[in-house]
Amino acid sequence: MIAAFSPENAGSAFLVEEPGGATGFASVGKQRDRGLADKGYSAEITAIYVLQAAQRKGVGRALLREAAAHLRRAGHRSAALWVLEKNAKARRFYEALGARPIATRQEVRPGTVLQEVAYGWDDLSPLLASHAAKPRLPKR
Ligand SMILES: CC(C)(COP(=O)(O)OP(=O)(O)OC[C@H]1O[C@@H](n2cnc3c(N)ncnc32)[C@H](O)[C@@H]1OP(=O)(O)O)[C@@H](O)C(=O)NCCC(=O)NCCS
Repeated sequence: MIAAFSPENAGSAFLVEEPGGATGFASVGKQRDRGLADKGYSAEITAIYVLQAAQRKGVGRALLREAAAHLRRAGHRSAALWVLEKNAKARRFYEALGARPIATRQEVRPGTVLQEVAYGWDDLSPLLASHAAKPRLPKR
């Protein structure tokens, strides 16, 4: 995570703040995975997290819209990320926002082997669409 914010990585982070406090964040930077960079995915979504109580209200969508707008301003046209294969929730989210699976890998960790899938956006434009803009904030 810290490496994602090194000067070489040109990392940036986004926070959604609502009246009750922050409900989610996302971070982006230059693509760190050589294989994905070689496939043309120049940027990486390095993290995205929405509080459980705030999920399915458009917060994640709004975060990726801001992240994509930032990446476009930085000259990127595409982005990709790695997600655990078993993280069905996140995979449905990326697919709903127009990403497609582009690679798989196994990460060997002490005592376990993690299966991961890379999702990519060849074009960031769908993330910028206006319908992706607004989180549905709770009524007050
Ligand atoms: C993945 C995550 C960021 C999605 O954030 P979110 O704010 O709940 O997503 P949104 O409300 O913006 O959802 C946008 C669309 O994605 C899809 N989607 C999101 N969550 C989904 C789920 N649990 N099941 C199926 N589809 C889902 C839907 O199509 C949704 O649109 P809809 O609600 O109009 O049907 C959130 O679930 C999360 O933080 N998970 C835990 C952390 C995590 O796994 N991060 C990714 C690590 S790689």
